[in-house]
Amino acid sequence: MDLKNEINKNTLPKHIAVIMDGNGRWAKQQGLLRAFGHENGTKSVKQTVEACAELGVENLTLYAFSTENWNRPKLEVKTLMKLLVSSLKNEVKTLQDNNIKLTAIGNLNTLPKKVYSELFEVIETTKENTRMTLTLALSYGSREEIINTVKEISNKVKNNIISSENIDESIINEHLYTRNLLDVDLLIRTSGEQRISNFLLWQIAYAELYFTSVLWPDFTKQHLYEAIIEYQKRERRFGKTSEQLS
Ligand code: FPP
Repeated sequence: MDLKNEINKNTLPKHIAVIMDGNGRWAKQQGLLRAFGHENGTKSVKQTVEACAELGVENLTLYAFSTENWNRPKLEVKTLMKLLVSSLKNEVKTLQDNNIKLTAIGNLNTLPKKVYSELFEVIETTKENTRMTLTLALSYGSREEIINTVKEISNKVKNNIISSENIDESIINEHLYTRNLLDVDLLIRTSGEQRISNFLLWQIAYAELYFTSVLWPDFTKQHLYEAIIEYQKRERRFGKTSEQLS
């Protein structure tokens, strides 16, 4: 049976974030180079984007490249950057056809010129789309994002644009890379690892965490549906009691 039918459309997570992990192990299992794992991972990206758009999820954020990933072997970094450029080129039509807006978060200035220009071309092309926002976290690290936020706010305090007494959650939200996005409702990590790895630390304060042993290149629409069904079984109390909620 298609698990899609078990999903309650009225209580969908508004923002799903995914730590796409296990490409390297998937490739190793097949006796292939790590690059093939990443290449096959792009198929799961496509499936996940399509499934979220079809269901009506408003925001999908994918951890595509972390600040720490720059420390990987040069050839692997190069492969990942090439894959990004080719995926952006190949998928711009899919984004347009499905009314999906692309955005990006991270220290984007550190991306190679070719990636940066292709990325911003697609961001520009899709900026009026309204069905779903797909955000790629690229050269992203949550601690770096928080440092950047603190610097921006301190500058504004120094220049009397913000008073330090007025700093609250909304001011911090407005200065994070994710300033236009809602908090994360559901965080999925594939490959059996159960950690956050410097991803959206502020934004996942009340997210439901879902870990699956499926390796990212094997992740399909059905796996996404499973995660959403599990999410819908959870009681999100936001610090309140069950009685208060009912
Ligand atoms: C983690 O697997 C995956 C990455 C670091 C990169 C994810 C990139 C893609 C899926 C391809 C391109 C993305 C887009 C958005 C088009 P890993 O290499 O850490 O796997 P391992 O833990 O098994 O070694």
